Amino acid sequence: MSEKQSMKKPILVIGGMGKTGRRVVERLAERGIPSRIGSRSSELPFDWQNRSTWAPILENVEAVFISYYPDLAMPGAADDIRTLAKLALAKGIRRLVLLSGRGEAGALASEQALQNSGADWTIVRASWFSQNFSESFLLDSVLSGTIALPIGDVTEPFIDAEDIADVAVAALTEEGHTEQLYELTGPRLLTFAQVTEEIALASKRDIAYVPITKEQFVGGLEEQNLPVDFTNLLIQLFTHVLDGRNSYLTDGVQRALGREPRDFSDYAQEVAKTGIWDQVQSNE
Ligand SMILES: NC(=O)c1ccc[n+]([C@@H]2O[C@H](COP(=O)([O-])OP(=O)(O)OC[C@H]3O[C@@H](n4cnc5c(N)ncnc54)[C@H](OP(=O)(O)O)[C@@H]3O)[C@@H](O)[C@H]2O)c1
Repeated sequence: MSEKQSMKKPILVIGGMGKTGRRVVERLAERGIPSRIGSRSSELPFDWQNRSTWAPILENVEAVFISYYPDLAMPGAADDIRTLAKLALAKGIRRLVLLSGRGEAGALASEQALQNSGADWTIVRASWFSQNFSESFLLDSVLSGTIALPIGDVTEPFIDAEDIADVAVAALTEEGHTEQLYELTGPRLLTFAQVTEEIALASKRDIAYVPITKEQFVGGLEEQNLPVDFTNLLIQLFTHVLDGRNSYLTDGVQRALGREPRDFSDYAQEVAKTGIWDQVQSNE
């Protein structure tokens, strides 16, 4: 690394151990660009629920990748984004890149908060992550052999978090992405039944997609005694956002990177090789 590079200020990656943030941090390291992770367990802790942790982590930072937790659909998210952007600008940080979602009012309000902040903004508006099936709440369903959801045959253009991270890193480190809203989708519209088939084929496991009613889905969530906000979030995501409003392809990956997005089959083949889907589900 040159002396100039070693003296560079780090890029703050909020959610830097999550599905997208982890990949952003890896890519920055490959390019010799220093990063600082912002999460509750990072060296300098950052907590969306505790605003007193926000200012210290923004000290001496070049740019910020903002991944909100758990989702921009949560009440108060747009106000958090507005406040964080204001704080960042007050510290002289201009480049802010927000990870957002499609077809959701809270996400749109958060995007607008950033766009109106005066920052050099980029919005990375992603469709459903493929990694929800391997690194998130749908992994347990895959391992149990049954993916039961109230989605019917609605199609979704699943996006690979590898592509999201590539776009985010381009926006954080290259010129030409300021005031760009990149809407990212994968290259194919897939039903959850088709996705289940892809995972079953790649992992050589018997996995069934079982369409259920909204009432059955809500009843199942209530039995799990999850926090009310989280239950409401899952209902919002699985019943409202997945109602067909996002069943179309966009060209955000192509516009930002000049290449095609990765296909779900490639994702499934690669995950199968890691053995994540070979685990035996614990009943504890
Ligand atoms: N999943 C999808 O399909 C999808 C689609 C479109 C958009 N999005 C958007 O993507 C964002 C999430 O991105 P992601 O899935 O890459 O992240 P993620 O994997 O959900 O991020 C998890 C990280 O967040 C940190 N975290 C948890 N609670 C926190 C808190 N209170 N304060 C600060 N950090 C906290 C955790 O680290 P610690 O435990 O160390 O805190 C954890 O490593 C959401 O805003 C969502 O709206 C998701």
